Amino acid sequence: MRTVVAGAITSSDGRLLLAQRSYPVQVAGLWELPGGKVEPGEELAAALRRELREELEIDVEVGALLAETVELAHDLTLVALWARIVDGVPRAVEHSRLVWVSVDELEDMAASNQLVPADTAWVPELCEVLRQR
Ligand code: C5P
Repeated sequence: MRTVVAGAITSSDGRLLLAQRSYPVQVAGLWELPGGKVEPGEELAAALRRELREELEIDVEVGALLAETVELAHDLTLVALWARIVDGVPRAVEHSRLVWVSVDELEDMAASNQLVPADTAWVPELCEVLRQR
Protein backbone atom coordinates (compact mmCIF):
# COMPACT_ATOMS: atom_id res chain seq x y z
CA MET A 1 0.00 0.00 0.00
CA ARG A 2 1.43 3.36 -1.03
CA THR A 3 0.21 6.84 -0.17
CA VAL A 4 -0.01 9.74 -2.60
CA VAL A 5 0.06 13.16 -0.98
CA ALA A 6 -1.29 16.23 -2.73
CA GLY A 7 -1.03 19.90 -1.80
CA ALA A 8 -3.99 22.26 -1.39
CA ILE A 9 -1.79 25.28 -2.07
CA THR A 10 -3.50 28.56 -1.25
CA SER A 11 -2.61 32.18 -1.97
CA SER A 12 -3.03 35.08 0.43
CA ASP A 13 -5.98 36.32 -1.68
CA GLY A 14 -7.94 33.08 -1.27
CA ARG A 15 -7.07 31.27 -4.49
CA LEU A 16 -6.07 27.64 -4.97
CA LEU A 17 -3.30 26.36 -7.23
CA LEU A 18 -4.38 23.69 -9.73
CA ALA A 19 -2.06 21.79 -12.05
CA GLN A 20 -3.09 20.25 -15.37
CA ARG A 21 -1.93 16.66 -15.84
CA SER A 22 -0.07 15.71 -18.99
CA TYR A 23 -0.19 11.90 -18.36
CA PRO A 24 -1.49 9.18 -18.29
CA VAL A 25 -4.00 9.50 -21.13
CA GLN A 26 -7.00 8.74 -18.88
CA VAL A 27 -6.44 11.92 -16.88
CA ALA A 28 -4.32 14.03 -19.27
CA GLY A 29 -5.87 17.49 -19.58
CA LEU A 30 -7.62 17.26 -16.20
CA TRP A 31 -6.67 19.44 -13.24
CA GLU A 32 -5.38 18.24 -9.88
CA LEU A 33 -3.84 19.25 -6.61
CA PRO A 34 -0.15 18.65 -7.35
CA GLY A 35 1.76 16.03 -5.37
CA GLY A 36 3.09 12.50 -5.63
CA LYS A 37 3.98 9.23 -3.95
CA VAL A 38 5.29 9.11 -0.40
CA GLU A 39 8.53 7.13 -0.13
CA PRO A 40 8.68 4.30 2.46
CA GLY A 41 9.49 5.78 5.87
CA GLU A 42 8.95 9.34 4.69
CA GLU A 43 6.63 11.70 6.57
CA LEU A 44 3.66 13.10 4.66
CA ALA A 45 4.72 16.72 5.00
CA ALA A 46 8.29 15.94 3.94
CA ALA A 47 7.03 13.99 0.94
CA LEU A 48 4.80 16.88 -0.14
CA ARG A 49 7.63 19.40 0.21
CA ARG A 50 9.91 17.13 -1.88
CA GLU A 51 7.31 16.55 -4.58
CA LEU A 52 6.46 20.25 -4.88
CA ARG A 53 10.12 21.18 -5.12
CA GLU A 54 10.50 18.63 -7.94
CA GLU A 55 7.25 19.36 -9.79
CA LEU A 56 6.76 23.09 -9.25
CA GLU A 57 10.14 24.37 -7.99
CA ILE A 58 8.57 25.88 -4.88
CA ASP A 59 9.15 25.54 -1.15
CA VAL A 60 5.97 25.23 0.89
CA GLU A 61 4.97 25.41 4.51
CA VAL A 62 2.65 22.48 5.16
CA GLY A 63 -0.49 22.68 7.29
CA ALA A 64 -3.31 20.37 8.31
CA LEU A 65 -4.63 17.28 6.57
CA LEU A 66 -7.87 17.63 4.61
CA ALA A 67 -10.62 15.41 5.97
CA GLU A 68 -11.21 13.14 2.99
CA THR A 69 -8.96 10.18 2.22
CA VAL A 70 -9.50 8.72 -1.26
CA GLU A 71 -8.83 5.10 -2.17
CA LEU A 72 -7.32 4.94 -5.66
CA ALA A 73 -6.85 1.80 -7.70
CA HIS A 74 -3.64 -0.23 -7.48
CA ASP A 75 -3.26 -0.08 -3.67
CA LEU A 76 -2.85 3.70 -3.62
CA THR A 77 -4.35 5.95 -0.97
CA LEU A 78 -4.64 9.66 -1.71
CA VAL A 79 -4.51 12.36 0.98
CA ALA A 80 -4.13 16.13 0.82
CA LEU A 81 -2.45 18.70 3.04
CA TRP A 82 -2.98 22.45 3.13
CA ALA A 83 0.12 24.33 2.05
CA ARG A 84 1.35 27.82 1.27
CA ILE A 85 4.35 28.91 -0.75
CA VAL A 86 7.28 30.27 1.23
CA ASP A 87 9.79 30.44 -1.64
CA GLY A 88 9.73 30.34 -5.43
CA VAL A 89 7.21 30.97 -8.18
CA PRO A 90 5.41 27.81 -9.33
CA ARG A 91 6.59 26.48 -12.68
CA ALA A 92 4.96 23.58 -14.56
CA VAL A 93 7.93 21.19 -14.72
CA GLU A 94 5.84 18.01 -15.19
CA HIS A 95 2.37 19.47 -15.70
CA SER A 96 0.99 21.10 -18.86
CA ARG A 97 -0.16 24.27 -17.12
CA LEU A 98 -0.79 25.82 -13.72
CA VAL A 99 -3.62 28.12 -12.68
CA TRP A 100 -4.70 29.96 -9.53
CA VAL A 101 -8.47 29.58 -9.23
CA SER A 102 -11.08 31.40 -7.17
CA VAL A 103 -13.68 29.41 -5.25
CA ASP A 104 -16.26 30.07 -7.98
CA GLU A 105 -13.86 28.88 -10.68
CA LEU A 106 -13.08 25.76 -8.66
CA GLU A 107 -16.79 24.96 -8.33
CA ASP A 108 -17.32 25.51 -12.06
CA MET A 109 -14.40 23.25 -12.95
CA ALA A 110 -15.67 20.52 -10.61
CA ALA A 111 -19.20 20.79 -12.02
CA SER A 112 -17.93 20.48 -15.59
CA ASN A 113 -15.69 17.46 -14.79
CA GLN A 114 -12.41 19.25 -15.41
CA LEU A 115 -10.84 17.88 -12.22
CA VAL A 116 -9.12 14.53 -11.80
CA PRO A 117 -11.99 12.36 -10.47
CA ALA A 118 -10.32 11.48 -7.14
CA ASP A 119 -9.72 15.13 -6.30
CA THR A 120 -13.41 16.05 -6.43
CA ALA A 121 -13.75 14.56 -2.92
CA TRP A 122 -11.95 17.63 -1.56
CA VAL A 123 -13.99 20.29 -3.35
CA PRO A 124 -16.56 20.93 -0.56
CA GLU A 125 -13.85 21.39 2.07
CA LEU A 126 -11.67 23.45 -0.28
CA CYS A 127 -14.56 25.79 -1.07
CA GLU A 128 -15.68 26.08 2.54
CA VAL A 129 -12.22 26.96 3.83
CA LEU A 130 -11.34 29.31 0.94
CA ARG A 131 -14.62 31.21 1.35
CA GLN A 132 -13.72 31.93 4.99
CA ARG A 133 -10.47 33.63 3.97
O1 C5P B 1 1.41 12.23 -9.81
P1 C5P B 1 1.59 10.73 -9.80
O2 C5P B 1 1.56 10.14 -11.18
O3 C5P B 1 2.74 10.27 -8.96
O4 C5P B 1 0.26 10.21 -9.06
C1 C5P B 1 0.11 8.87 -8.69
C2 C5P B 1 -1.35 8.50 -8.77
O5 C5P B 1 -2.14 9.35 -7.96
C3 C5P B 1 -1.93 8.61 -10.17
O6 C5P B 1 -2.84 7.52 -10.34
C4 C5P B 1 -2.68 9.91 -10.14
O7 C5P B 1 -3.74 9.92 -11.07
C5 C5P B 1 -3.17 9.96 -8.71
N1 C5P B 1 -3.37 11.34 -8.24
C6 C5P B 1 -4.65 11.85 -8.08
N2 C5P B 1 -4.84 13.12 -7.63
C7 C5P B 1 -3.77 13.90 -7.34
C8 C5P B 1 -2.45 13.41 -7.50
C9 C5P B 1 -2.29 12.11 -7.94
O8 C5P B 1 -5.63 11.13 -8.32
N3 C5P B 1 -3.98 15.14 -6.90
